[in-house]
Amino acid sequence: MKVSIIGAGGLVGSCAASALQFGGIVREIALVDVNQDVAEGQALDLLHGASLTSDQRIYAAGPEDNADADVICITAGLRRKPDESRLDLINRNVELFQKILAGLKSSGTKKDAIVFVVSNPVDVLTYLAVKELGLPPAQVIGLGTVLDTTRLRSMLAQRLGTPPSQTNVIILGEHGDSMVPVWSAAQVGNLPLEKWPGVTPGLIAEVEKKTRGSGAEVIKKKGGAGFAVGVSIADVIHSIALDQHRILPVSSLQNGAYGLRDVCISVPTILGRTGVVEQVEIDLWPKEKTGLQNSGRVLQETIAKVL
Ligand code: 2OP
Repeated sequence: MKVSIIGAGGLVGSCAASALQFGGIVREIALVDVNQDVAEGQALDLLHGASLTSDQRIYAAGPEDNADADVICITAGLRRKPDESRLDLINRNVELFQKILAGLKSSGTKKDAIVFVVSNPVDVLTYLAVKELGLPPAQVIGLGTVLDTTRLRSMLAQRLGTPPSQTNVIILGEHGDSMVPVWSAAQVGNLPLEKWPGVTPGLIAEVEKKTRGSGAEVIKKKGGAGFAVGVSIADVIHSIALDQHRILPVSSLQNGAYGLRDVCISVPTILGRTGVVEQVEIDLWPKEKTGLQNSGRVLQETIAKVL
């Protein structure tokens, strides 16, 4: 499988490329960036480690390399300031994103290509990509709350002293302030979280608060997310490449699950080589369901303002 990463010169794109290199699953990684020198620098740096990572083709590429890519990952965009919300970014990033979409339309894409949006505000830009590209909506996804979910799982595990891989809680909704952690289904080692030793409502609230602020905290401390968003991107791409049909909270155009329509947002989504296979509406606590519907409203209001 060939993956092209638009914005590969930046922190998010280059960390995604590195995570894909360590994963060794995709065959070819084309690094596209408006700054060709930096794209070449990233490709060179990744090449230098190839003998210890995997046998792939990784190279600096031009926009024409999106035309035969199986997955086109868009990470380009301005980063928000620590005190800015992802939605505040909208005016600065929509214009840049529309240029990227126009470039994709002129270079063309494979008819079965998956367009994978990471740039923020990811839910709004995913919606824009669905509307502008004319690909089947199932083939246009956004990273959504995949990153938030791995942050929450990892920080909850650290707080409880449990293995992150066995600490499970999913976040749905907006990749932003209105995100919804689904504590009703949280587990540790396939056992109910609330029964795990040391779990209290205070601990849950503390870890949830830290998760909500993680993006801004990382921006403040190091300028922006890289490693965790990189492995989150790779996890989504691997589910596509291997046609795994795993359930991931990617953002996609909704068709009625939880009463959500005409908005791109994260719900439990079965993801395979053809993109969105199914959006699964599972039972949530009433406050989780209303939170998710509120998240949908927040995004629809933003979409109405800018698109
Ligand atoms: C974050 O939360 C980049 O939006 C991403 O760090």
